[in-house]
Amino acid sequence: MKKKIKKKKILLLNGPNLNLLGFREPKLYGNINFKKLIKIIKKKAKKLNCKLYHFQSNSENKLINKIHISQKKIDYIIINPAAFTHTSIALRDALLAVKIPFIEVHISNIFSREKFRSKSWFSDISQGIISGFGIDGYLIALKTSIKRLKKK
Ligand code: DQA
Repeated sequence: MKKKIKKKKILLLNGPNLNLLGFREPKLYGNINFKKLIKIIKKKAKKLNCKLYHFQSNSENKLINKIHISQKKIDYIIINPAAFTHTSIALRDALLAVKIPFIEVHISNIFSREKFRSKSWFSDISQGIISGFGIDGYLIALKTSIKRLKKK
């Protein structure tokens, strides 16, 4: 009998205000709404034969708890911490604690905007950062994460 290969489990985490995609500053973040974004990413995940879980919250506490309960359950995290990118040492510590490899994604180019957005509390502990490619950044991250997991 053929051995069934276990699907890789990827968690997509989105931080505050990303639920307002499509409506929020469309010049920066595009016209696609959050629901559609998730649909697009899930479709891609299916093609790549991985299991995608997603969670969006405007609360730092809830995002931290989600990271905690993902320990030993999730193989890889794709995270857009949104405004918490520039403020949250607590979220950074949560990712360090669970030791799940992750990619940091930003829809806009955080380095070409206000100075305070150039500082990320995640970049140096991430496997990589994708910033400025719109929602394609999530798809690039998904493809890359699968590649990375296959190499392991
Ligand atoms: C963002 C960039 C952040 O600076 C901002 O606070 C966001 C979204 C992005 O995806 O471009 O909410 O993470």
